[in-house]
This record gives sequence, C-alpha cells and structure tokens, in this order.
Amino acid sequence: MDLSKAPYCEQDPRQNAQLVRGLSASTSKAKAGFKVKKTTFKIPGSPDGISVDSWRFQDWDYKKPDLPTYARGLFTTRNRRNDHEIAVRGYDKFFNVGEVSDTRWENIKLKTRGPYELTLKENGCIIFISGLEDETLLVCSKHSTGDRSDVEVSHASAGERWVNKQLATIGKTREEFARELRRRNVTAVAELCDDDFEEHILAYGPDKAGLYLHGVNINIPEFMTYQSHLVQQFADEWGFRKVGLKSFDDIETVKNFLEQVAESGAHEGRDVEGFVVRCGISSNAEQTQYNDWFFKYKFEEPYLMYRQWRECTKALIAGKPPKFKKHAKITEEYLLYARKRLANDPKLSRLYNQNHGIIALRDEFLAYKNMKGSDAANFENAFGNDTSSVSSDVVLVPIATIGCGKTTVGVALTHLFGWGLVQNDNIQGKGRPARMVQAVMSLLMEHPVVISDRNNSERREREQIIKDILMQHKNARLVALNFAHGDVDEVRRVTRERVLKRGDNHQTIQAATDENKVIGIMENFISRFQPCNPDTSPDDGFDLIIDLDPAQGSRENVEKVVTELHKKYPLLIPNVPSAEDLDAAVKGAIEDYTPGIKHTIPDRTSKREQKRAEAQKSHDPKKKKQLEYMAISIPAKEVNVTLESAFKGVDPPTQRFYKQLQQSRRIQALFHVTLMHRATSRQDPELWQRYTTLAAESQSVDGKVGECEVMLERVVFDDRIMAIVVRLLDPDEKWTCFNKIAHITAGTRDDSVKPKESNDLLARWLNVGSGGDTGIGERIFEGKPTLKGTVRGVLSQ
Ligand code: GTP
Ligand code: MG
Repeated sequence: MDLSKAPYCEQDPRQNAQLVRGLSASTSKAKAGFKVKKTTFKIPGSPDGISVDSWRFQDWDYKKPDLPTYARGLFTTRNRRNDHEIAVRGYDKFFNVGEVSDTRWENIKLKTRGPYELTLKENGCIIFISGLEDETLLVCSKHSTGDRSDVEVSHASAGERWVNKQLATIGKTREEFARELRRRNVTAVAELCDDDFEEHILAYGPDKAGLYLHGVNINIPEFMTYQSHLVQQFADEWGFRKVGLKSFDDIETVKNFLEQVAESGAHEGRDVEGFVVRCGISSNAEQTQYNDWFFKYKFEEPYLMYRQWRECTKALIAGKPPKFKKHAKITEEYLLYARKRLANDPKLSRLYNQNHGIIALRDEFLAYKNMKGSDAANFENAFGNDTSSVSSDVVLVPIATIGCGKTTVGVALTHLFGWGLVQNDNIQGKGRPARMVQAVMSLLMEHPVVISDRNNSERREREQIIKDILMQHKNARLVALNFAHGDVDEVRRVTRERVLKRGDNHQTIQAATDENKVIGIMENFISRFQPCNPDTSPDDGFDLIIDLDPAQGSRENVEKVVTELHKKYPLLIPNVPSAEDLDAAVKGAIEDYTPGIKHTIPDRTSKREQKRAEAQKSHDPKKKKQLEYMAISIPAKEVNVTLESAFKGVDPPTQRFYKQLQQSRRIQALFHVTLMHRATSRQDPELWQRYTTLAAESQSVDGKVGECEVMLERVVFDDRIMAIVVRLLDPDEKWTCFNKIAHITAGTRDDSVKPKESNDLLARWLNVGSGGDTGIGERIFEGKPTLKGTVRGVLSQ
C-alpha cells in the first residue's frame, strides 16, 4: 500500500458543531462530573488572524464514560464559512494494561483484532502539526500553541524550530507542508526528543535528536489513524525521524513478546520504558465494526528491580560503587550474593558483561532466598526496609516556580509537626547554595524533617542540593515536592494572581511596588523550569517524589505531602493529622505569614502558634534527653579521601575488605572519634560528669562544645570491622578519650558487628600486630593528615 491509498475522511460541519456544543457545555462543572478547560490561542503569522481553541480534560476524567471526545490534544477553530473545524486531533487517551476494563488481558483478547503494531514508548514530549485554512502551519504541544511573543521556551516552539529545520533539509516550505496536511485532513503526531531541550529517560544526543513521527490522525471526532507503515512513509517524505516498529498478527504472540522484553528490561540493546500497541477494537457486540484503538504496556515490578540488579551487577564488575535507591535491602543482599558468585567464577563476569547469565544469576539468588521475584520486589513493604524505619534526616526539596505555594506548604508543615524550615529568600549575599545546605544540615540536628524552601526549577539546582546534602550526610533522604507544570498556562494564571495579591509581603518579590518587574521575574523562572524526571539524574536521587498541582491550592497540597510521607515513612508521621488540623495549619500559613529575616521557625508562626509551641516545649520530652556519648566529629570528605588513597593501587587481598565495605555501602556516612560513651560512665564517673555538664551547658543547636584537631594515623581491619587509629592534637589536654586507643570506626561488615568492637580489634592489633597469620590488615596513612574536628555531645534519641 502506498500513501495515495491512505484512509481519508472529510470533516462534517454538523458533527463538529455538535462536538463543540458538547465541549462548551462541559466548561463549567456540570452534572456530568467532569470539566473541560478551554483556552484560546491566537496564531501568530496567520494571514487570516486565525485563533484556535484548545480543549482539555483532567487526565483522570478520560476514564469516565460519555465524554464528548476522548481525544487528548484537541484544537478547534472556525473557518471562513464560520463553520466549526477540527484543527488538531491527538490520539484517543490510551491506558496501561490492567488500568481500565478494556485493557485487561481477557478483554483485549476478546475484543481486539490485529495486526498489532508495537512501537517503543518514546520518551519526549508530544508535538502536533497541522495545516490551517490560510496555509499557516500550526505546530503545538498537547494543550498549547507556544505563542512566539512569549518568553517561555515552550515545547511547542521547540517543536517549531525542529519542523523548520527538517523542512529546510528536504527543500520544502511551511506552506507546502500545511497544504499537504490539510489536503489529507490530518494531524501529524510526533515526539520531540532533544536532550538539549529537555532530558528524558532515554538518551538522545545530537545525532538522535529531532521529531519522531509516530502517528497521522484524521481530523474527525472519532479516532481514526494511519497504519504504521503509512506513518513511516509519510515520515520519510517529510523529513521526520521514524519510530521503531514491530508487527504481530495475534494477541498471544504480542503478550509473550511483551512479557519477554519485560523480563530482560531491554529491547534491541537499550532500556525501554514500555510499548504502545495499536490495533482495532470492536465497537459492537457482533464484532463487525472495528475502530482504531491503542493501549500501552509499561514495565513494572519486579522487572524494574531486575533492571536495577543488572545495572548494579555491572557496576560491581567494573569495580564501581553500585547506585540504587529502591528495594535497598533486598538489593544489598542480592549484591552480597552476586559478589561471591562473581569472585568464585571469573568467567561469569566476562559473560555477564556480554549480557549472558543475567537471568540465571538472578534466579539463582531468588532460589537461594527461596523467594519469587514478586515477593522480592515486595520485600521492603513486607519486612520493613529502611524507609519504614526512617524517623529522621528527611529533607523536603520543592521543584517549583514563584508563587506555587512552597512557603505556604512549608510553614503549614512546621505548624503541624514543628519541622525545620530554611528559606532561601532569607539568605543574602555570596555562596547562597552552600549556605542553604549548611542551614539545612544544622536544622536537621534538631528536627526530623527540614524543608529547604527554594524553587529548584532547574536540574542543576536539584543536583547541587542533592549532592551537597548527601556528601555531608550519606543517610539523609531527599523528598521532592514536585509542583508539576503540566499545564503551564494554568500555573501561570494561578501564581500570577496569588503573587500580585500577595503584594509586598515577601522578601524579594514585591509585586505591589513593581508589578511588571515581578511578572518578568516569574516568567523567567517558568521558562527555565525543567520538569522532574524520576528516572534520570539528578531527580533519581530523590528517595520519594510527591507530585503536587500548584493550581490545586495549598490545602490539598499539604494533605498530599502528609499522606505520602506517612505512607513511605510511617514512623516519621505515625498519625495523619485531622482535616481540621490541616485546615488550621494552612489557614494560619496563608493568613499569618510575614517574612522574617532569620530562618528560625517561631518568628514566622502566628502568635497563637507561638504560644502553643511554648506550651508544648515546657513538657517536651526533648528537654530530658540524656547524653549518649561525647565525640569529635570529623569532616567526612577528608576521611574518605584519605581512605581511598590508602587503598589505591595496593594488592587485591589488602583492598578486599575496603572494597567490600564500599560496595555494600557499609562505610560510615559520618565519622567521629568517641571520647566516652554512656555505657562506660561507671568506669570513670568523674569524666562522664564533666562531659554531661558540658553537653548540658552547650548553647549550640548541634550540641557543639568545642574543637579539637585530630591526626589520622593508620587504618586497621580484619574481615569484620575497619578502624582508623587517630591521635588527638590537644595541647591543653582538654579532651580525654576513655578508649585505650582513640579511633574512628570506618565501617562494619553488617549490622551484627557493632562499632564498639573496634576496641577489641585494636587491642588484638596492639598484641599481635598485623600481617602474616594474624588476620589483621593495616595501612599507614601517607603524610598523616590533620583534620579539624568538632567536639559534640550526642543526646539519646
Ligand atoms: P516565592 O517565595 O515567591 O517563590 O513563592 P512561594 O512558592 O513560596 O509561594 P507562597 O507560599 O508565598 O504563596 C504565594 C501567595 O499565594 C502567598 O500570598 C500565599 O499566601 C498565597 N497562597 C498560597 N497557597 C494558597 C492557596 O491555596 N489559596 C490561596 N488563595 N492563596 C494561596
Ligand atoms: Mg516563598
């Protein structure tokens, strides 16, 4: 079949009028239970001055019956005869397997027919292209035309640039392309994949970037679309890139194929997110009529966990520390197992790197654990992984633009839970990012959760805060408050309205003073906004991403944050506050807020809240916290560097335990020299009393009582524990170390080995030395670095 035989259907003005009537009737929340949003765009450069209307339902409404249309992405206009016309028509909204009744396998088998065309679920943003009556080429995203007078670098205008580029390559004009689309009465549907513009899951370097054509839809109310081979021909003719295609005749083969790819997580050598399947679905019981119909198949657990294991195994083989966040506990166990197997069988690593034995190794481990893959993926939920025991060290990081409600949500949370809040707007002068992190770190000492209130609209800002916090505190967990900008126009409208209303009640954005300037600043943030992408760096560094809708209002958003945090970290929020408490907290945050100059919370809470906080404080159990131990904390970065260089280039047996600790993430996140622990208080009551008094008198939020320089001398280890022998450079003999040999525990093999066993190791080492058959290894640090430590009292939890 060639393109001249492509399906064609002309528009019917009466049918269109009925469609628009149906849509218009849904613009106010009607009895129907859904609401459509209409936005009008003037088309720049249109000789006739054409404008188009975009019609948009909320995503979840597409599951409801009796919508006037299921087209996701629909623009209509009026032509010269004043008839309604469809300008752009997207696909009918399609669902994942199992998501709705039609997409359950048994129904798919029952109601659909082949050929089944599978395309990779490309991961960019969708672009629609069509031709208007006056030969204007309309290029738009799902719901926006990307007005060129706007400073926003919208998806639509990025798409526009690519269209121009590809037309230039084939020597055609925009008018010619517009005429061709109009002649066919179609919308070309393409995926914009361009890392320079926006990074998605798959990498699209310059050689791969561009518009990938994946559909050609007829501009009529019902869904009618070209078969894939015609789409590909059309792509060739008009200079688009093509999407990979697989075609099957029967549904069993499709199902088998999908499940097989899911099993390996890769297709033709690259990771895929899933597939879109195009086929026909019967629209009547007799199965005589079929409509075009799509569904999708997205990979889920346990396959995502398997994929993670594969990547981690490859990291092990390459001698790099494996990176993972999800399924932490079971993945650590898997890696211990994999490490042993790889060590016993050198051939295995080589084969693994060539993608052999991946499934076998994984199955071996599961058999050894006597578990099914699905159980393993559920392991964390069932047996309490690190997140169910998390009760502190959580940092909330917004991804937002101005006026999304970051501060309101943050202040409300401080009202509810007494958490810490650091406002970037309260930090002035140089080096703000680093100082923001410092402020967060110090508030983390006294609050289980700290809100780091900054926009982080760009990826590099997220990268900075994630990196800097984890560098100082490896076990901190960062949670994104993702104020999604899916509907940029709505976000713009809502935030402008709020910020203009807020007037001068802000540290830097003073809208009452200069409205235009403020709108300019807001636009600037919106144009730089890079959406959160959980699958790639830096956003994969978040432990949890909570999706919020800025247009929804802060009350809703606070509730979402609270319930999501409660789900993920039940110990952090054991009981979700009542609706009244949530109401009051948000109301208080909106009404009573005035920006402070210091970032201490009580300054910005209402009078009432302050009183309540005072009242609480007086019977706060925190007051009665006891000293657990006195210690000198040492900057982690320097210690890590020293260890790394001590083991660099030495023979493998000496390196082994260090590598093991590193790869199983058992090197301490924070390092300290214990001066004295409560457990030994009876053995030197006088010293313990001195330290207890010092800690009680400390004025500092983090329990700091003084400073002491520490010289790192050597590292001593067996196959259980690793300790760094240090010397306190303390000329005034102010600090006494109760332990015989002052040391830092660098890491232990697993949780069953307690840090205090360093004392036993060092006692043995003193007796028998190292090397030979002592079972003890030792490396002396070159240059014996001296580090500045902070003496602190650490209180009981
Ligand atoms: P910047 O600090 O300027 O980046 O903004 P932000 O994200 O911190 O937003 P903020 O919390 O200051 O909210 C902006 C304005 O909207 C404030 O005046 C809030 O009081 C107000 N506001 C926040 N949430 C809501 C809401 O749910 N409804 C209404 N009506 N106003 C809100
Ligand atoms: Mg703010």
